[in-house]
Amino acid sequence: MASKPEAPAQEVPPAADPDAPTTAPAKQSVDPWNVAGEVGDDGKVKAIDYNKLVEEFGTKLIEDALLQRFEQVTGHKPHRFMRRQIVFSQRDLEVILDRHEKGEPFFLYTGRGPSSDSMHIGHTQIFDFCKWLQDVFDVPLVIMLTDDEKFLFSEKRTVEEVIGYSQENCRDIISIGFDPEKTFIFSDYEFMGGAFYRNVTRFAKLVTYNTARAVFGFDESSNIGKIHFTSIQGATAFATTFPHIFGEDEKRVASIPCLIPCAIDQDPYFRLTRDCAARLKYAKPSLIHSRFLDALQGPGSKMSASIDSSAIFMKDTPKQIKDKINKYAFSGGQETAELQREKGGDPAVDVSYQYLQFFMDDDEELRKIGQDYKEGKLLTGELKAICIKYLQEYVAAFQERRTKATDDRVKLFMSVRPLKWEGNPKVKRT
Ligand code: TYM
Ligand code: TRP
Repeated sequence: MASKPEAPAQEVPPAADPDAPTTAPAKQSVDPWNVAGEVGDDGKVKAIDYNKLVEEFGTKLIEDALLQRFEQVTGHKPHRFMRRQIVFSQRDLEVILDRHEKGEPFFLYTGRGPSSDSMHIGHTQIFDFCKWLQDVFDVPLVIMLTDDEKFLFSEKRTVEEVIGYSQENCRDIISIGFDPEKTFIFSDYEFMGGAFYRNVTRFAKLVTYNTARAVFGFDESSNIGKIHFTSIQGATAFATTFPHIFGEDEKRVASIPCLIPCAIDQDPYFRLTRDCAARLKYAKPSLIHSRFLDALQGPGSKMSASIDSSAIFMKDTPKQIKDKINKYAFSGGQETAELQREKGGDPAVDVSYQYLQFFMDDDEELRKIGQDYKEGKLLTGELKAICIKYLQEYVAAFQERRTKATDDRVKLFMSVRPLKWEGNPKVKRT
């Protein structure tokens, strides 16, 4: 009966306008708009403590037994993000694995708030992971572009601007390599109406101002669009929002859940959504959470598209990538080469090493680089050079694919149409 979210919300700090200057609070704070590590006694920002987030948000760590279950059910070795606890937390992932095992339908849902004309390498990681999950499960994927959110939560952006970003971000997302037969990308401004809007209002009716304030930290001066927005991001988790994909039979479709891959900052939206789903007799969404790709400045904040010097963008040139890593990437190494050889560096806070954890698939090679760095066999400049090479190759391959993401392709992915998928090949479709 409770209209309260699953986990106590008092810990969630007030939402700040993303455009407002932020002063790092003393305590760690993570919400959909800001990510900041705790400030230590020395005045330095500490790395995000992810175990603490699991406790605060009431999610579960992804344990080895669950990874084994994943491998057993899908026949796939877990993705490197899962092996390395980059994807570290979940809600009801077992439910999805059980359904896959039985050949029962579910879908994948993720999204992007188009806040700039190019995504950064932190965003594309989550989308790469979604593509991998889609290949493993062979299920429909819906990708929401929250242009309305990026308008409502910014002092400066105009409606026209965010609609333009949606188009460019859609082009970026297509370039990840999604299959248009199985993937629907939509902009809130375009898709709002019909079954979607019906679910948005069903959701909105269940959420009081008190609840929205407790979960997101709004206050009396927050505009009412912000307070309402959660209904839009939430209603997208319901299969009945997409009759063109799942059919018109609301009763049957209501029981189809989704799995939402996202970074942990988005969890507050879905805590609330799971609560509303139960009250609407819709399937509760499951979640799988990733940690953040650090800002270039270090592990106490996330790479953010609104802060130019924190990010490597998918439109950056090889030279820009090299210069940014060399100039900004926080190093866990020693001041001089001599000291580094003598004392070694700390890969846990070294941004270049952290990025390699995301990008390098070979576990053994990565382990060796970490070891050599710790022992001082590898110097900071050398580690940065390896990271630069990986990022340049990753971004160049993406840009090559992006030349093929034409206006027609964008239209195709964003058109309201049926999708085709098989599900688990070992089980007959239900
Ligand atoms: P947005 O655009 O802020 O972020 C899009 C996705 O990328 C994740 N993310 C990151 N992951 C790793 N490292 C980073 N530095 C980093 N920065 C962002 C976000 O957690 C998110 O998964 N309101 C949402 C859009 C949205 C959505 C969703 C996201 C709507 N529905 C469902 C996920 C799932 C937003 O503004 O995301
Ligand atoms: N808007 C430019 C374009 O359409 C630049 C750009 C934005 C871009 N995002 C990108 C280029 C990603 C390459 C990759 O090309």
